[in-house]
Amino acid sequence: MVYRPTMSDLASRIRTLVAEKNAIILVHNYQLPEVQDIGDFVGDSFGLAVKASEADADVIIFCGVNFMAESALILNPGKLVLHPEPESRCPMAAMANAESLELLKSKHPTAAVVSYVNTTAEVKAGSDICCTSSNAAKVCRSLPNKKIIFTPDVNLGSYVARQVPEKEMILWPGYCDTHQNRITLEDLRTLRELHPEAEIIVHPECTPEVIDYSDRAFSTAGMISHCMNSDRTEFIIGTERDMVYRLRKDIPGKTFYAIDKAVCPNMKKITLKKVLASLETLSPKVELPEDIMQKARIPLERMVAVGRGE
Ligand code: 13P
Ligand code: SF4
Repeated sequence: MVYRPTMSDLASRIRTLVAEKNAIILVHNYQLPEVQDIGDFVGDSFGLAVKASEADADVIIFCGVNFMAESALILNPGKLVLHPEPESRCPMAAMANAESLELLKSKHPTAAVVSYVNTTAEVKAGSDICCTSSNAAKVCRSLPNKKIIFTPDVNLGSYVARQVPEKEMILWPGYCDTHQNRITLEDLRTLRELHPEAEIIVHPECTPEVIDYSDRAFSTAGMISHCMNSDRTEFIIGTERDMVYRLRKDIPGKTFYAIDKAVCPNMKKITLKKVLASLETLSPKVELPEDIMQKARIPLERMVAVGRGE
């Protein structure tokens, strides 16, 4: 008989190795449920960046897409940062590149560059400050510049532009396929008919028409604190569908409805087997050129300081 380990065999082997290798597992809210369950910390991009910067373990296993694992290394360069599936990449991050950014900067010499963390390390290196969806408006307001080049998400950029009308925003035309094309007005209307009492909460990477139809927009961590503290008991969640696993686990007394087709296929490339292999072999390592890391650290650290209110 061929031995096939169960999820719980894999999970307990992973936890044993985490202790043996003095590792920490950081997990994004969109990861598969079984991967969320083995995390030491499960969070949004900002929370994960902060945890990575503070980690004192020798090894960081990053269960998220590549830019998140890269940010962990940039913020804590002394650590061995492992990304169990290097092909787990954010397609939106690939929509902006350093050369085109330099060209745009030369056309707007007085503009500050704000880059969403969903960017390559090279684009971060050419930016003044990074942001996540939890702090984008605060980051833009913190800058003295009137003009802001915002990369790469046009939807988050438009959402922020409405909150900071005093700024002139130049928006990069990137987008997230999951939020742009797999979460539609039609999906929300159908769910609202089925669950008229539910509050609709979406991610600011959704289109402006979806955001306008919904009741509120939050980062993934913002969704958790809002739903926890709200008097409402039913919520329609307009973001990657495994966010609802996290919400149901943290807030068992309330009801959450997901949009089933809202999947980020790249987030799903990380499995328990790959996490285990990563711990056993201490690979694949996240590596970046030293000069890019040094330049990209400045905007990331500025974001962490603004996000924490320092
Ligand atoms: P959060 O920072 O809200 O977790 O979002 C990250 C992301 O990639 C959304 O698609
Ligand atoms: Fe990138 Fe969209 Fe996936 Fe987030 S959900 S990691 S923005 S592709």
